[in-house]
Amino acid sequence: MCGIVGYTGLDTAKDVLITGLKRLEYRGYDSAGVALERAEGDGCVVDIVRRVGKVAGLESELAQRDDASTCGIGHTRWATHGVPSVANAHPHASCDGRIAVVHNGIIENFAELRADLEARGHVFSSQTDTEVFAHLIEEAYATTHDLAAAVRAACAHVVGAYGLAAVCADEPGVIMVARKDSPIVVGRGERGSYVASDVIALIDATRDVVVLEDGQFARLAPEGIEYTDAEGRLIEPAVTHIDWDIDMAEKGGYPDFMLKEIYEQPRVVRDTLVGRLAPNGELDIDELGLSFEELNVIDRIYVIACGTSYHAGLIAKNLIESWARIPCEVEAASEFRYRDPIITPSTLVVAVSQSGETADTLAAIRDARIKGAKVFGITNVIGSPVARESDGVIYTKANKEIAVASTKSFIGQIVSLTLLALLLGQAKGRLTTGQVRMLFHELGDTSAQIQRIFDTQLDAIHEAACACQGAQSALFVGRGMGAAISYEGALKLKEVSYLHAEAYAAGEMKHGPIALIEPGFPVIAVTTKSPTYDKVVSNLKECEARGARIIALATEGDEDIRRIADHVIYIPPVRDAFSAITASVPLQLLAREVALMRGCNVDQPRNLAKSVTVE
Ligand code: F6R
Repeated sequence: MCGIVGYTGLDTAKDVLITGLKRLEYRGYDSAGVALERAEGDGCVVDIVRRVGKVAGLESELAQRDDASTCGIGHTRWATHGVPSVANAHPHASCDGRIAVVHNGIIENFAELRADLEARGHVFSSQTDTEVFAHLIEEAYATTHDLAAAVRAACAHVVGAYGLAAVCADEPGVIMVARKDSPIVVGRGERGSYVASDVIALIDATRDVVVLEDGQFARLAPEGIEYTDAEGRLIEPAVTHIDWDIDMAEKGGYPDFMLKEIYEQPRVVRDTLVGRLAPNGELDIDELGLSFEELNVIDRIYVIACGTSYHAGLIAKNLIESWARIPCEVEAASEFRYRDPIITPSTLVVAVSQSGETADTLAAIRDARIKGAKVFGITNVIGSPVARESDGVIYTKANKEIAVASTKSFIGQIVSLTLLALLLGQAKGRLTTGQVRMLFHELGDTSAQIQRIFDTQLDAIHEAACACQGAQSALFVGRGMGAAISYEGALKLKEVSYLHAEAYAAGEMKHGPIALIEPGFPVIAVTTKSPTYDKVVSNLKECEARGARIIALATEGDEDIRRIADHVIYIPPVRDAFSAITASVPLQLLAREVALMRGCNVDQPRNLAKSVTVE
């Protein structure tokens, strides 16, 4: 949520900042702004330029300014405190305008801090929590005359989460950076020093980066970077080498990131499985750090996650219960932490998060660990808070996901969770090595099956999208795995096309939702071959009788389904356990097509942000 960039060095800062902000725009796009240092007389001033809307607006504004500044900070915002407006856009300045800050996160005690600062004469010009940082640093600077010390002092007053970058006109060329519970990455390139909230914004400059830990600070200058702890003692943090290419994070000829990422899914399946099956036929997920004996004592599992990741959890529940016979509950992380779940030392909590920084999921992890559970993370981001705070982690190998709606990371999550379910099944003695090997290979086959959907079903998906385009609402139904797939299909459709959609277990239709059906109402049904196929077909007949327009996701070769379905999208035959991997893909494409027909920006749907770092 929100993106931070900063640069000090030899190049024109506004160009470096705009390039970085564009890369980060997927994280928030309500407003954008920069603070640039400029020489004036014998000294320096800080100019702030902010715009409501996307980074392109800010870029045009800056293009008209002859600004050769070589030091600045920038921000792209997703509103939390205060409406999207110029006043609320970052950077925020101190009363005297000599200090400017950009901030990601939430300051929990901001109301109290603001009241205190106002009582001491500070004048606020925004509704944001961030602005307290500018005033706190200003106050501390008045006594320390040292930006590094002033930022550390300000942080000591703040309760909450922050990734922070600050500049001060009295220390030209210096950017001070702090982190607590909100990612900050720092790197040194040939042309200067860089900071960002996501490595993607500085990968052009350097591949060796420092991911700041909570409580660490960095002081960036053109000639180098100094790292300190909260007491100002010098530290030497670990350097992480980034081995993925920027091309992987660019559109690569596709019209939008969402399509590009959907098409990457066969690769994601393959990459997530590489090296996972040892020559002796056993699964190799060493990074989980638990022996078979330790896995064997697990007697209860909670999968905690939000949104699409929660839906991956619903799919995992089916697999874990079926293969390992361990009771598994799936809970929205935002609910889990506010009730009193039954946790014992033999409870395993599986936290699923693409970004690895979702506030609710992190809070639930911390809660679960305090209560004594083992926590496994499933995440797409190396070194993310979820990875760091879990006892073990499986990375989903989706690579950077830019489109706000999760697609490839969802498939990576399902594959990773399937591996975990197989491992637990083996550890519990419910699956033989031979069975695991067979299922593993079938899982790998889904890569080619997804490709086959791309090769054969685009026309059918287009037709189905035309059928939904003008609707007011749509219903997704299925049973078992099909129900879980439906939940994700409905979420994808509503988030990118703004068409209202709901998902129901098909058997629940007659208990209420069927009242919605009127002639032409789109019902999207997962009717792939499964033990409940006949039941789903019966439920569809009830919809057909009331005039619904039925779009069926069916297994190749199922011609009977055409008797009740107006449109059919075919999925290659696949074991029910793996149907979510294949059937979810056409639903992603359907959502995208409907969104484009309705004139929506599929990469950046309104009101959403890629990482949700607030509760
Ligand atoms: C929907 C979507 C969101 C995320 C949710 C959790 O397409 O992307 O629903 O799944 O915000 O995010 P992570 O997985 O980063 O914890």
